Amino acid sequence: MRAGHKLLKLFEPDIIASTREHMHRALHPVSARKLHIELEQDKSWDALREKYPRGVKEVHRFGDTKFWIKRNVERAQDLSLDRGPRHHILDLGCGPGYFIYIAQKLGHSGIGLDIDEQPIFRDTLGLLKVHRVVHRIEAHRPLPVPEQKFDLITSYLTCFNRIERLPDGNWRTWSPDQWQFFLNDVRSNQLRESGMLLLEFHPQRNGELLNAI
Ligand SMILES: C[S@@+](CC[C@H](N)C(=O)[O-])C[C@H]1O[C@@H](n2cnc3c(N)ncnc32)[C@H](O)[C@@H]1O
Repeated sequence: MRAGHKLLKLFEPDIIASTREHMHRALHPVSARKLHIELEQDKSWDALREKYPRGVKEVHRFGDTKFWIKRNVERAQDLSLDRGPRHHILDLGCGPGYFIYIAQKLGHSGIGLDIDEQPIFRDTLGLLKVHRVVHRIEAHRPLPVPEQKFDLITSYLTCFNRIERLPDGNWRTWSPDQWQFFLNDVRSNQLRESGMLLLEFHPQRNGELLNAI
């Protein structure tokens, strides 16, 4: 690449945005380490890990507060929740509740929504003091009407759109029509006027994103 071309690349919008983001994070760090130490002051977390030992069930990995605090601080920073206006947030398929916990630590309010199937999540939500609405998200079924609409709706490692496991290990997931119903409901009944929805999908075994739309 010629020097002039390299210099021009520095002025591309993506590069400028990424440089600005790096500078913001360097100048205003959110310490996942401090948040982790603070959380682990409560020795109930040791008891939780004894109750749900790693390796027994895949879901027991959510007792690893160090990993999940760091991961959710990154998620929050990616959404600029460490700056700017305060948001009211709904986290779909909230699981253990770490994302709403971190959002609350950064001054936001929020609730989780999930089915009630995993005992470990009942316990982590209690320790994190995160409120969860119990609801199964299903095709063509509206989400519960909220008391207050949300500025931000998130879903990480989304899997509520799975219908059935296929013989090749991939999942049959919602059709475009089923997604359209969900999106219309979110837009009309859940989100404020300028609100934002973020869905983060698991990759399929064949490398595709689950139901990228
Ligand atoms: C892999 S976990 C991800 C947990 C959390 N979002 C995170 O990334 O840390 C997927 C979550 O989606 C929830 N879930 C799966 N199907 C659902 C459905 N139909 N309705 C609501 N929640 C669902 C599961 O109970 C689980 O908590």
